Amino acid sequence: MARPSLKGRSLLTLLDYSPEEIRWLLDLAVRVKKEKQDGAAQQRFAGKTLALLFEKRSTRTRCAFETAFGEEGGHPVFLSTQDIQLGAKESVEDTARVLGRMFDAIQFRGFKQSTVETLARYSGVPVYNGLTDRFHPTQALADIMTLEENFGSGRGKKLCFSGDGRNNVARSLMVISAKLGVNFTVITPPSLNPDQELVETCRKLVAESGAALCVTGDSAALEGADAVYTDVWVSMGEEAKREERLALLKPYQVNAGLMAKTGRDDTIFLHCLPAVKGEEVTADVIDGPTSRAWDQAENRKHTIKALMLATLGLD
Ligand code: CP
Ligand code: NVA
Repeated sequence: MARPSLKGRSLLTLLDYSPEEIRWLLDLAVRVKKEKQDGAAQQRFAGKTLALLFEKRSTRTRCAFETAFGEEGGHPVFLSTQDIQLGAKESVEDTARVLGRMFDAIQFRGFKQSTVETLARYSGVPVYNGLTDRFHPTQALADIMTLEENFGSGRGKKLCFSGDGRNNVARSLMVISAKLGVNFTVITPPSLNPDQELVETCRKLVAESGAALCVTGDSAALEGADAVYTDVWVSMGEEAKREERLALLKPYQVNAGLMAKTGRDDTIFLHCLPAVKGEEVTADVIDGPTSRAWDQAENRKHTIKALMLATLGLD
């Protein structure tokens, strides 16, 4: 395979990346994880600056970007909406223009996908989507890295998402799975199905990658799953939907009974975190021996470091 160059690229959604480019990032993440474990991390971000823009809270994403960049000599700057204008008194375009003059790259976490797109268009530097209402692409990279650590390759493996099928995490998993040939099943009530437009796009990708894509309300579809994934029932910004979601999603809670529907005892459990134990997952599952949620959290850092190295031309 020709070595892809991602220098100068933003990551707004994985729809913009080819399977080869995603593969390159995942393989690079494996290498940087090993370097870190061997105490051989380098100083590749020395002299570089990274703006970290947050409209929503974060533990993992912020810490992954800050530690990955900082430990290699870079200087990350955290900017919440309490600190900067970003659309409040100054347009997103103007903020982007200014940040692009001072920073080598920008991470954005917030509400609208259009904000991260505008930042990329006007800043002239790589922009990373650290979660919007629509997508969470850096999460999906860590998820597939974790799946592959357990099963060697994601291709042909069965990944089932049980929960809010229309949220940013489920939608990003659907995209990366379709691109890489992972068989992806979303198990969700029909009113929470991922939007038809994205499903249609992914069906075309699946035709190329040879994977299966299934959207269903029936948890019998868990049979044979290699991994069962869930995420919170109430995503950030959707707090008003709480009662409705709890009622709708109760049958989709990942508990021992639901895990048993896989018919396997080596199925792993995945969760992007943060988790609301007792809602989307029970404590015995997420804190039990099949859970890989903590590996996933660590892998956020390695995949994000790989993304920054590649897009800054340092890989
Ligand atoms: N998984 C994830 O994005 O976690 P944070 O919200 O803590 O960043
Ligand atoms: N779907 C969740 C993911 C958190 C990492 C949210 O958007 O709040």
